[in-house]
Amino acid sequence: MTASRRVALSSDHAAIPLRQAIAAHVSAQGWEVVDIGPVTPESTHYPKHGQAAAALVASGDCRLGIILCGTGQGIMMAANKVKGIRCGVCSDTFSARMIRQHNDANMLSIGARVVGEGLALEIVDAFLGAEFEGGRHATRVEMIEAPEA
Ligand code: RB5
Repeated sequence: MTASRRVALSSDHAAIPLRQAIAAHVSAQGWEVVDIGPVTPESTHYPKHGQAAAALVASGDCRLGIILCGTGQGIMMAANKVKGIRCGVCSDTFSARMIRQHNDANMLSIGARVVGEGLALEIVDAFLGAEFEGGRHATRVEMIEAPEA
């Protein structure tokens, strides 16, 4: 399968059951899921998991990535330090759609202690189902990226 239908997935210990539910849901939709764990519930450090998933997206191995921690915030901050990554935390479907359409986000972060599984799966669907609109938004995304150049 090409990278265009491949999604990277990772979390910290706070989000393992939700990450696994997302993996099953996304896989059933025909995406190839690269789930890099963790699988055991010991306390771990969200930056390394977020940045490992971000590396898969930044390299082009996966087109998109979904990462989770308790709030979604810390792992998002860590992922956004990887060059080429645009990751937003979403707790609603509107934002999840808009970060693709307007911001060309290539990663989505979700807080497993913030949203329940049903809403989280809808957020994932909104993110994966949307495409970047380009046009005037492309100029703004270039401006986001400019400090990395
Ligand atoms: C872990 O307790 C928690 O700090 C982490 O999952 C996340 O919420 C950090 O942003």
